[in-house]
Amino acid sequence: MKMSQGRGLAVVTGATGGIGAAICLRLQADGYGIIAEYRSSHEKAGELGDHIRGRGTFFKAVCSDLSTPDGVKAVVRAVRETLDDHPEYELRALINNAAKLLGPAFGEATVEQFDHYMAVNVRAPYFLCQELSPLMTAGSSIVNISSASAHFSSPGDIIYAMSKTALESLTRNMAEAIAGQGLRVNSVIPGFTDNGHPEFHDPSALEYMSSFSVLGGVADPQVVADAVSFLVSDRANRTTGTALDVTGGSTVGARKRSVSSVRQFTEK
Ligand SMILES: NC(=O)c1ccc[n+]([C@@H]2O[C@H](COP(=O)([O-])OP(=O)(O)OC[C@H]3O[C@@H](n4cnc5c(N)ncnc54)[C@H](OP(=O)(O)O)[C@@H]3O)[C@@H](O)[C@H]2O)c1
Repeated sequence: MKMSQGRGLAVVTGATGGIGAAICLRLQADGYGIIAEYRSSHEKAGELGDHIRGRGTFFKAVCSDLSTPDGVKAVVRAVRETLDDHPEYELRALINNAAKLLGPAFGEATVEQFDHYMAVNVRAPYFLCQELSPLMTAGSSIVNISSASAHFSSPGDIIYAMSKTALESLTRNMAEAIAGQGLRVNSVIPGFTDNGHPEFHDPSALEYMSSFSVLGGVADPQVVADAVSFLVSDRANRTTGTALDVTGGSTVGARKRSVSSVRQFTEK
């Protein structure tokens, strides 16, 4: 079992998204160096890097497409290189946050879409966990970002919802597999969270999304980042194989809905 001695390094996938960027900033404030995976938003990755390096923290961006095995390998390679080049760092956290969001509807899904969602949302986290967990020191932890849609019927986003259910299953199954190394793994379940996408500026879509939470409204990405920060910390050292729900009570029961996916507001 590798024991923790050095400075903590966190790998965050989907770091250029609304939630991923908030997670990077929160973990940087917690003292972690950051390896930030993203796919296409070069400008956002650059801004995030400037911000984090500006605070004197290690930051490396990795541009990769996690729908492909090579994309996963690129992240693993970047982590290995970082640990070789910076022996003062230890890999302490992996946050599987990147995802292909929402859709497709039950009657419209194609085989290609099915495979693409599963590759990004399930296969990539699985193999990142498999490849990176042996590099982690005892006491380290993995967090998989799930979704409220894994917990209620979402026929308009059926493949996305199924992928998140599989991700939570990965969390439960892997907890036992890595416990012997002194590692923990948990999921965070966000509800609708303002990631800056257009639907969060559309009053009808916003009203629809707010109706899911018994507390009303949508979440700030900071809410998800705080949950991640807690789960990777020693304060959660008896928490593994479970999920922290930050949906504002969106998962407590069925509610009447006007449409089957928020995509119907933005795709009109
Ligand atoms: N926002 C919500 O309401 C909400 C609710 C429940 C759960 N979640 C979950 O929270 C997590 C973050 O979502 P978000 O709202 O922050 O989404 P977002 O703003 O759309 O960000 C998605 C991130 O994933 C990356 N990504 C997408 N496809 C990729 C691929 N093939 N390979 C590598 N990276 C890829 C994107 O990279 P580029 O932009 O660089 O292409 C981006 O960094 C996701 O797991 C999502 O399912 C979000």
